[in-house]
This record gives sequence, structure tokens and C-alpha cells, in this order.
Amino acid sequence: MTSHEREQDPSKQGLLGSTSGHHSGSESDSDDNNVNTNLTSNTSRTPNGKKNQQHRRPKPTHRNRAPSFQPLPTPNKSFLARRSRRHHRTPPRPFPTMVPLPPGGTSASWADSYAKASLLVNNMTLAEKINITTGVGWQMGLALGTTAPGSLVGFPALQLQDGPLGIRSADNITAFPAGITVGATWNRQLMYARGKAHAIEARAKGVNAILGPCVGPLGRMPAGGRNWEGFGADPYLQGVAGAETIKGIQSEGVMATIKHFVGNEQEHFRQAWEWGIPHALSSNLDDRTLHELYAWPFGDAVKVGVVGVMCSYNMVNNSYACGNSKLLNGVLKDELGFQGFVVSDWLAQRSGVGSALAGLDMTMPGDGLRWADGKSLWGGELSKAVLNGSLPVERMNDMVTRVVAAWYQMGQDRWPKDTKPNFSSWTDEKMGVTSPGSPSPQEQVVVNQYVNVQANHSIIARQVAAEGTVLLKNENNILPLSRTTGIRRRQTTTTTSEGKFKIGIFGEDAGPIPSSPSNPNACKDRGCNQGTLASGWGSGAVEFPYLITPIDALRREFDPSTISLHTHLSNSLPLTSSEKQAIADLDLCLVFVNADSGEGFTSWSNVRGDRPDLFLQKNGDGLIQTVAAQCGGGFSDVVVVIHSVGPVVMEAWIDLPQVKGVVFANLPGEESGNALVDVLFGDVNPSGHLPFTIGKRLEDYGRGGQVMYLPNGVVPQQDFGEGGVYGVDYRWFDKKGVEPRFEFGYGMSYTQFELGNATVKTVKAKSALPAPRPEQPAAKPPSYSTEVPSSSEVIWPEEGVIRKLEKYIYPYLSSQEADAAVSARREGQKYPYPEGYNVSQPLSEAGGDEGGNPDLWEVYVSVGVDVRNMGKVAGAAVPQLYLSYPEPKTKAAPAPTQQPRDGVKPDDNNTNEPIIHGEEGANEGKKGVDFPLKVLRGFDKVYLEPGETKKVEFDLTRRDLSFWDTEVQNWRMVVEGEYKVRVGWSSRDLKVEVRW
Ligand code: BGC
Ligand code: BGC
Repeated sequence: MTSHEREQDPSKQGLLGSTSGHHSGSESDSDDNNVNTNLTSNTSRTPNGKKNQQHRRPKPTHRNRAPSFQPLPTPNKSFLARRSRRHHRTPPRPFPTMVPLPPGGTSASWADSYAKASLLVNNMTLAEKINITTGVGWQMGLALGTTAPGSLVGFPALQLQDGPLGIRSADNITAFPAGITVGATWNRQLMYARGKAHAIEARAKGVNAILGPCVGPLGRMPAGGRNWEGFGADPYLQGVAGAETIKGIQSEGVMATIKHFVGNEQEHFRQAWEWGIPHALSSNLDDRTLHELYAWPFGDAVKVGVVGVMCSYNMVNNSYACGNSKLLNGVLKDELGFQGFVVSDWLAQRSGVGSALAGLDMTMPGDGLRWADGKSLWGGELSKAVLNGSLPVERMNDMVTRVVAAWYQMGQDRWPKDTKPNFSSWTDEKMGVTSPGSPSPQEQVVVNQYVNVQANHSIIARQVAAEGTVLLKNENNILPLSRTTGIRRRQTTTTTSEGKFKIGIFGEDAGPIPSSPSNPNACKDRGCNQGTLASGWGSGAVEFPYLITPIDALRREFDPSTISLHTHLSNSLPLTSSEKQAIADLDLCLVFVNADSGEGFTSWSNVRGDRPDLFLQKNGDGLIQTVAAQCGGGFSDVVVVIHSVGPVVMEAWIDLPQVKGVVFANLPGEESGNALVDVLFGDVNPSGHLPFTIGKRLEDYGRGGQVMYLPNGVVPQQDFGEGGVYGVDYRWFDKKGVEPRFEFGYGMSYTQFELGNATVKTVKAKSALPAPRPEQPAAKPPSYSTEVPSSSEVIWPEEGVIRKLEKYIYPYLSSQEADAAVSARREGQKYPYPEGYNVSQPLSEAGGDEGGNPDLWEVYVSVGVDVRNMGKVAGAAVPQLYLSYPEPKTKAAPAPTQQPRDGVKPDDNNTNEPIIHGEEGANEGKKGVDFPLKVLRGFDKVYLEPGETKKVEFDLTRRDLSFWDTEVQNWRMVVEGEYKVRVGWSSRDLKVEVRW
């Protein structure tokens, strides 16, 4: 049988059947080993809303039972048939169940807030408690997410608002540069400043919690739709940028909610039903990869005291992330010592009691299994669960206490009592209703007060955009340009007929949206690629208050007395013959191109959230090639400016001799044009560095770097074991000896810097494992009565006391429902808790305080270097520190087959075959550990006048120097051999080296 036939014939593939490694255990993995039982519904619905009884399966009783998994008759069945068998391998071992969870209130830094919270919670009725944990439903409040108040004790409704780059769905706010641009600055102060400014705006708009920053996706798949919301394809960079952003946000008393925990690397199948199949995909992660890559940045966030964590839509190892007890109770709350609350992504909650037991504390937007259905899995159902004894009262109290403590921790108890959004996320009109999601009649009130909260934040937005602009190519110092002479080295103005220097500006990306020139917000949630690209799309986008386009800024800056501009603000080709003639007369051409993507609920063209490829969009390659061939008859210089959500393949034109300059401006936000001219004219010396690798082709990112575009099962299985701890970005390119076009960390300046005088200082002696976890937690969690409250606390108030809105989510029960719940408990029909629920579990040795075992954050070695500006202009350098672990003794040193730019030896396995972790991973302690060739573990941004030298110190913590030992379940430092620590200008341009 040819491979083609095999692909066509599902019967020959063991599709979802017994030969499928993935599925034989998947159902039981999730049901037996993680708490994700759904109490409210066993039936599911087909995309057209009909109940689908075929989907009902008997509860598995045995882990190794014969597979009973049948494909659903969904419209995607033909996709399923294309499942390939090549990738079959043993599925990752399921995570163990981790219940009960460690209660919040164990950290000294939160002790006061917990003490205050416990006083409040102690006085709450059950209805108030439920209110605080359950959103009131989609579009039932003015913010994107709203909880109900604890009115009797005076706890307010909380207002949660997207997103990571500004206040979504609001007016008069700042559209900051996206996360990826922030990552490209490598500037901690700017990361902090942007977070702070964002929070000032949130607070002034009446928002309690920002749904950001975003550090997941990490960027495993370069085409992943939402990578641009985060800071770059490396856990260390994400961790630092996330932590600085959080510190900035929370310094203003606004809650930060870091997201998405964890494994939400692609948009396709991220969410149940969004893609026509009833389940989200499963990101299958082995323990070490989870720790060293995906959970890593969340550790930084917890360390700096983040108060909220959003769990993601996808499953992890076949258990929904928001109901995955190992992840929430285990990794987040025990190991990382998270003291705040876990909030679900919008509709990511897939079970009722199960997710509460697993560690979810707040459900958003509050609705149930389907969007805006008004049938919460919590709300009244949670009231029942407490009354009938299926949710332990301790857990209920812990959920509420975590939220209330977070509120005190931010000092929000000192906010004016009536703080609420002074804008509506759902309308631009002044008047509207407060719960547009409800069909019940409501009175019109003022919902938009149009409060301008921008202050002078455009300054920060512009700085971030300029510093986040990466100069990739600059032959003959074509850049910076001159406002009067165009190209600087031309001393006099020109020789052409009109006596002016002629500059052509090409591409739709330079200008406004052609169809509605004044409106950069033409498409909802920015869900299209039109005009200049300054943001991706989805919940991570905002309404631009204004957008300075490149053409606006260039027209303003170029001196019209000496320069004439020719504009072709479209990508449409071929050019007319008169245009061709005009182009042949040009002295310099600037070409603007882009690539867009976004969140999976919107698609544009063939970009369904995730990009289908890494090419420039709208024929960007063709535009550059044409302009290069025709500008000045093919003899004039060309500068390419790229706005993009992530890496783009440039092979079609990067080596063209005419293309002298390439500027990668990422996603610059509202100040786009201004920031660009800052860099183009040299007012700001470029100092951005790539927060990802630009490969020569998508395939170079490895098999693990590919988005799964067609589901390979009813629960699509995305295996992160392919590549393991080096499955992402430069780690993969290094390990495989693949030459990128531009490597991670790369970026040029208008000056030259030098590194020297590397020093290494031992601060603490090496030791394999961290100090034992402190025996007692630093603080004692509050304790409450464990008695089940009286059902009277959740009975519907009398007629007329509240006005009941249809579909709005309330905590209340009828007296019949309440009675039934109470008698169920009396009759002992208790929910079967997972085995071992009452047995207290051993706590992780990697834990002990916020961010984990305090010893992990101790500095063990400090590396110093001198950075000197050798050039003629001032500028900022970005020295980057990369660590290589001591070579494992057990492995023979392989002969290099390729010599990449920095001379790092690729490993012996120099093919594109993935390295499989998983089962082997279990024994790695014995066999010798497979390390990435190098990992980023430090960076700084240093501003230097010409000739100036500054000393830079990098402190390496125990965590920085450790790997996750799956056998001892702890971070382990390598004590034999020497660490190699190199500092340089990119991941492949390493200048100095020390050993430790
Ligand atoms: C996104 C989240 C966002 C939420 C609220 C979800 O679809 O994944 O990032 O915060 O919606 O809009
Ligand atoms: C909403 C987003 C949400 C998404 C989830 C959209 O309709 O506007 O806030 O993230 O649905 O699928």
C-alpha cells in the first residue's frame, strides 16, 4: 500500500482503535487520574445543537480496558480519516491526581491579606461565597468578566477585562505595543513601565483585574496564532517580561492575571466546540518539558506575587487544564506556592465539582458548557454541591478566601465603594443596558462615560515600539536615513530632473486601511489584515484610539523641499506602465509588508487564528521582489519594513543585492509610525533583538513546531514530547544544527559594542538539590467551621427583593432543590471523591513559598562583563547570557557535521528526526540527561555614550542552573563537571566565556 492509500483508508490505520497509542488510554487517563467529572451533563451536543446520544459512553472502570473510543459523526470525520500512523508512540504518562489541594494563606507576604479575608469570609452566606466564585454570565456586566458581590459583607463585584496590551473594548485608552514587541526590547524598565501605565488606565476605567500578561503560548509553533500576545519563544524571556509586567500592573493596585496555564500553543482545536468537535485538543507534555519550558514563566509570575492565574482551554495529557488537579493543585498551588486565585479561560471550565476539587477558584464568564447558555456548572449548581456534601466546605471557603485575599493584597479595599466600569464592553453608545446578554427588558442607563485615561502613555508606547524594532540588515549603512538627503552618505541634494531626491513608498502596510481611511478599527477585534499592521487580533487586541501610520509619519518627516515622495500604498501588482516608469526614476524605495494572525474565534482569509505558513501575507514577497527589480531600474536601494506577529520566511528576497536594509518592527501599537521614524532617522539607535528565531522554512522548526491543522482524533493529540526540553525555537535549531536566517536574540545597532573582562564569582557552593522545604509554612491558612451551611442561605430571595434577569447566573436554589440537596447528604449519597481525597499528600520538595522552594531563588554564581560602545553614536546594547550544562559523562562527544555561526557543535543526531522523550525521560537521571545546547539565563540593556564602558552583572539562581529531575521530582543542579557560561549579542554570536 502506498502512503497515499494509507492516508485515504481509515480502516488500515487503526484510527482511534487498538493500534492507536494515543487513545487507548486517554479516556481513562482523564477520568481515573484527574478530577474532571462533570456533574451536570453526560450528554453532549453536536454542532447543530442536537443531543448526541451516541457520544455517551459507559464510564471506564479499568485503566487498561479495551479501547471503546468511537469517532463521532462530526463534519470533521473526513479529517479524522487522514490521521497518519507515522507519529504513533507511547502516550505520556498521565499526571497523578493531586487532591486535596494546599489551601491558600501559607506565605508570609500574604498573611495580612488572608487574615483580613478570613474575617470577611467568616461572615459570608453561602450565596455570597458562590457569587464571588462564579461569573454572572456572558455580557451580563459591563466588563468582559464580572463576578457578583458579597453584598452583606460589602465585597464588590469584580470587573475583569482583557487584555495583555491595553483595555479591550473600551474608548480613550492606549493601544500599547503587543507583548512580542515588548519582548523584543529586552528592556526590563520598559516592561515594567508599560504594565504600570496599563494598570493606571484599568483603574481609571473601573477595572479590578487585567486579563494579562500572556506567557502561554510560549511559542512552540512559530505559526501559532497568539504568540504575539506573549513576549517571545523562550521561557526565561517570557518569565522576566511577565514578572516585570506584573510588578508594574500590581504596583497600581490592579490585579494581574497571567495566562494561559498551560500548553495553549495553537488555536486550532484549542476550545471545545469552537472547531466543530466536542473537545479541545490535548497538549501532551512530559514532566520535564512542563517544568523547564511551559510552567517556567508562571514560576516567575508567582514569585513576584501575581494574584491571578488563568487556566487554558486545552487539555493537558487528556485532562482539561481547568480541571487538571496535578497542574492546579500540584504544580501551581503546591510546588509554586501560588496564593491567589485560578480563573478559567472563558468557557474553559468543563466540569462542576471536579474542577473545584482540582483547584479552579473562579469560573468565567460563568456560563456552562456552551457559550452564553446561562447554565452555569457552578452558580446554583455549586450551592447544591455544598449542600449535598459533594464539595467539601473547606474547598468552598478556600476558593472564596483566595479571591478576597487577592483583593486585599492589591489594596482594593481602599478603592471607592462604588467602583465599577465607566464604559461598556458591548456598545459605543452612551446609553445602554447593564446586562445586554439577558433577553429580559431592562432600563437604559448611561453605560459609557468616555473617560479619557491615556495621560501621557503614548510616550511609553512609542518608546516600547521603537526599542522593540529590530534592525536585521543594514548594508553600506543605508540606515539611518536623512530627512533632507534621504540617504545620508549623499552630501548634496541630488541630480535628478526636478532636483529632488525621489523616494518611493510601497505596500498597503505603510498606510491606512484603503476602504475606510480613518478607521484602523474597521474589523471587529482587529480580525483582518488591512492597512498597516500594529496588532494581532482577538481578545488580545484593543480599539485603537488613533494609529499613526508609517506614511503619516514619513510624510511629516521628510523635507519636501529636497525630497519627493512617490507612494503606491497597495500590494497590487503588476504595476501599470506609467507606474513602472515612475519607479524606474526613484532613488530609494521603502517597502512595507506584514503577516497577521490572532485568536481562534476569528479567521481572516486563510488564517484561522494560526497562520497556515510563515510567509508574508498579501503577496509581500512578490511586492519586494518587484520593487527591488524596478526601483531605479533595479539599481536603487531598497529598505524593507516588516510588521508581523512572529517570524516570517524571507528567503525569496533577503539576499537580493538591492535589499540593503531590513527593519522588523513587530507589532508597534498606536505609535507605529512615530516609533518607526525614530529608528529610521536614527533619533533612536535600534536596540531591539529578536525574541524568536527566523528560520529559512517552517519545516526547520521541527515536527513539534508544526501547528496541527487537522484533528487526529476526537480529542486531537498534540505531543510536545517531540523535541522535549529542546523542542522550542533556538533550542531546536541548535540541537539539530539547523542554520536559521536570523537567530534568536539577533539585532543590529548603528554603533558597535564590545564585550570583555568576563569574571565569574561563586556566591554559594554547588550542591545538587535545594535545601529541604521549610517544615512549616511561613503562615497558617485561615480555618473556618467545616459545617455545611444552612440551605436557607441560598434560597431565592422573596419576590421583589431582586429583579431576576433571564440567563443571568445566580447562586440561588428553590426550596425544593435545596431540600433535595440536603436530603441527598443525609442519605449519604455523597459524591465519590477520588481515591485518597482525605489522605494528605506529601508536599513537593520543590515548593515552600511563593515561586517555590526559596533556595531556588538564591544566587549561586555571578558573572560580570564589561560592555563598551566602540562606535560614534550613543546606543543601547543587549548583552545576553547563555548557559550550557556540564556535558553528561555517559555520552561520547559526537563529531560535528555542520558548523553553525557560533561554532556550537550540533549533536550526533543531526537529522530532522525528533528526539522522543516521555518513557525514556523517566530514567534520565540514570542514563545521563539530555540538555539543550544552551539556554538563555540572563540579559540586560545598557545605554552607552560613544567610548563609554559599563560593567554588567548577571546573577544566576539555583533555578537558573538546575534541570527538573523527574525521578526525585525536584530541581537538580549538575555538580560534576563545569557549566559553560557565555555572553554575547545573540544566541549564536557569543563573545566571552567563563566556566563554573
Ligand atoms: C481568551 C482569553 C481572554 C478571554 C476573555 C478567551 O477566549 O483565550 O485570553 O482573556 O477570552 O476575553
Ligand atoms: C469573545 C472573546 C472570547 C471568544 C472566545 C468572543 O466572541 O469576544 O472575548 O475570547 O469569543 O471564543
